Amino acid sequence: MTFTRRRFLQLSGAATAIPLLRNVSLAERKEPSALCQKLAADPLRPQYHLLPASNWMNDPNGPIYFRGRYHMFYQYNPKGAVWGNMNWAHSSSSDMVYWRHEPIAISPSPSPKGFDSLGVFSGSAILDRGLPTMIYTGVMPPASDAEITLRDDQHQWREVQCLAVSHDPDLRTWEKVAEPAIAAPPEGMEITGFRDPSAWREGNSWLLALGSGIRGKAGAILLYESSDLRHWTYLHPLFEGVPKKDVGDMWECPDFFPLDGKHVLLVSTEGKVHWRVGTYKDRRFSPEKEGVADWGAFYAAKSMVNEDDERILWGWIPEKRPEAEHNAAGWAGVMSLPRLLSINSDGELQMEVVPALRKLRHGHTGFKSQDGPDALRKALDSIRIEDLSAEISAEFHLKTDQPFTLHLRSEDGERFAAISCVENSGKRLLKVNDVAAPLHGSGALPIRLEVFLDGSVLEVIASGTTALTARVYTVPKWPLQVSFDGDGQVDSLDVWRMHSISKDRLTGSLCG
Ligand code: FRU
Repeated sequence: MTFTRRRFLQLSGAATAIPLLRNVSLAERKEPSALCQKLAADPLRPQYHLLPASNWMNDPNGPIYFRGRYHMFYQYNPKGAVWGNMNWAHSSSSDMVYWRHEPIAISPSPSPKGFDSLGVFSGSAILDRGLPTMIYTGVMPPASDAEITLRDDQHQWREVQCLAVSHDPDLRTWEKVAEPAIAAPPEGMEITGFRDPSAWREGNSWLLALGSGIRGKAGAILLYESSDLRHWTYLHPLFEGVPKKDVGDMWECPDFFPLDGKHVLLVSTEGKVHWRVGTYKDRRFSPEKEGVADWGAFYAAKSMVNEDDERILWGWIPEKRPEAEHNAAGWAGVMSLPRLLSINSDGELQMEVVPALRKLRHGHTGFKSQDGPDALRKALDSIRIEDLSAEISAEFHLKTDQPFTLHLRSEDGERFAAISCVENSGKRLLKVNDVAAPLHGSGALPIRLEVFLDGSVLEVIASGTTALTARVYTVPKWPLQVSFDGDGQVDSLDVWRMHSISKDRLTGSLCG
């Protein structure tokens, strides 16, 4: 079966039945000030994650560190809290923690001249001899059937790869290059899609990886080469999926980069980001290890290098509630926290939330096993998590094959979330509410849980290798308490409150 955009949105829980391009204007929805107050007070809306002031967002696009600031662009619908009318929104930050919303960076240009009249889809940022340049997918009506590259139950669209440059040190204004950089797929190839370019410099050439798939076979990443970013030659697939073995017939949002002596290829398909670590030789990629970057609500991940040359990953955290609910809420989608990537001694992709986030910690309660037997109980008795905002870090050992669970429950006992680990026949599992994922390690090896709770977002990373982002739409009446149950031994526990990154859940530009 062809995997369609609608199917993805259904699978991801982002929507039940979306009239994809329905325009719901803010004015129709509510008076701006009333909407603003509602959004600023919505307890399910995060307080220390990046998200737009209102409306729908999806993929991170072209994150870049430029002239001392981090710039994040992302798929954004200025007209409502449902997918459609794709623009590139823009936010900037000096530290990847505190964000300021900037004006929309790139919007569709009307037909007949616009190559992106139906949407400015995902892409990447590069510096072309210092000049900030975006390469993205423009979506337009096809002139004939032969031009259709995106076909699902709702759309028959043509995708082309476009360029935009900025001479503005703040990256607020962008000029589109008049002609598309890549106007059509390679001659004679039957493809399942043609989008989300990701470019890099190699010697005297530019290389570009493009999301695609070979019809009837599997997902594929197409590789192109150029000397000037304006004219491209198709080389061959950078990497092709094995039919029937590899998930997804259309691989979206490729990201390809060197890391710790290896190369990493990320592709998004069927609601998950798949990583492969391997070798890049003769312009072909051979994977050696593979896995899933996050087993929960996390998609269309994109990386960048930070000011210290470290590799940082961002992902889109989609909604997991019905479309009618997020549409009524007036917002949908959150950017993940920035995750610092590395490769561990087993050759697997590892991640941790960047240390910069620690500046938000305050109000610490902690326990270490050397504090004595009563200390854990005392610490647990005193922990109260207010406003659904906290970081929790715990280390523990499993003692039997029974699950060991960290519970978050409201003071009156109402269940909020349960994070369990279990080891059975040498295989470990992590479970966050009802979603499970394989967890590496075994035996006496301790398990380290990093948990970031922020409104309806719960980002969990276990032992650096298994990430699982959950959405929880419960608003407890009382502060949350932490408790453990099962046969495990807690070695340490740290709980912090988190400062908010704005006074109004980042609605400032809407309310101001
Ligand atoms: C991934 C994706 C991309 C596309 C964008 C459109 O979520 O489908 O392939 O460019 O979203 O919003």
